[in-house]
Amino acid sequence: SRMNLLSVSGSLRAASLNTALLRAAQDLAPEGVTITIFSLRDLPLFDQDLEDEGDPPAVAAWKEAVAAADGLVIACPEYNGGITGVLKNAVDWASRGKPAPLAGKLCCLFGASPGITGTVRAQDALRLSLRRAGARTEPQGDVLVGQAHTKIIDGALTDERTIEGLRKHLAGFVEAVRT
Ligand code: FNR
Repeated sequence: SRMNLLSVSGSLRAASLNTALLRAAQDLAPEGVTITIFSLRDLPLFDQDLEDEGDPPAVAAWKEAVAAADGLVIACPEYNGGITGVLKNAVDWASRGKPAPLAGKLCCLFGASPGITGTVRAQDALRLSLRRAGARTEPQGDVLVGQAHTKIIDGALTDERTIEGLRKHLAGFVEAVRT
């Protein structure tokens, strides 16, 4: 049967290396798997007063998309050793409700950075928040793309080793979601 994965980027900029990884993932996903990119641009800052008034439309759309997804593919830059405010905000919104949209969701973590370590600290921080929200992270580890500005050119992933690594990783993730 078909599988629908929801993907989000922790970066809003058009030339984002992280969003470029998600676009590459759309092309490299196994047969029968659709990866949809959800933009976090319209999500308001988390505010319990907004929640008490009833989720704003952008929040409702985000929470419904998470709840409906078979799994999540998340690409997040590292900002000052952590995840971006944009993504943390999205995790916080999706951690709310009974059941929380994130509860039980299996997540695949990607990160791209011009630096050598490729966002390892951000992914560790992200994993912690996701687990606190009841989501699951895959045992096979993260896709960390260091020196990403040399591997992603004009928005396209061009590095063959990274392409093959991403393809294999996605196949493993899809297997994990199916089981
Ligand atoms: C960064 N960058 C960065 N990189 C890193 O590897 N570790 C870090 O702690 C930080 N800190 C940081 C803070 C802030 C405020 C900015 C704007 C940037 C660099 C970052 O990895 C680089 O700008 C990426 O290209 C951002 O991801 P996108 O937008 O290309 O997806």
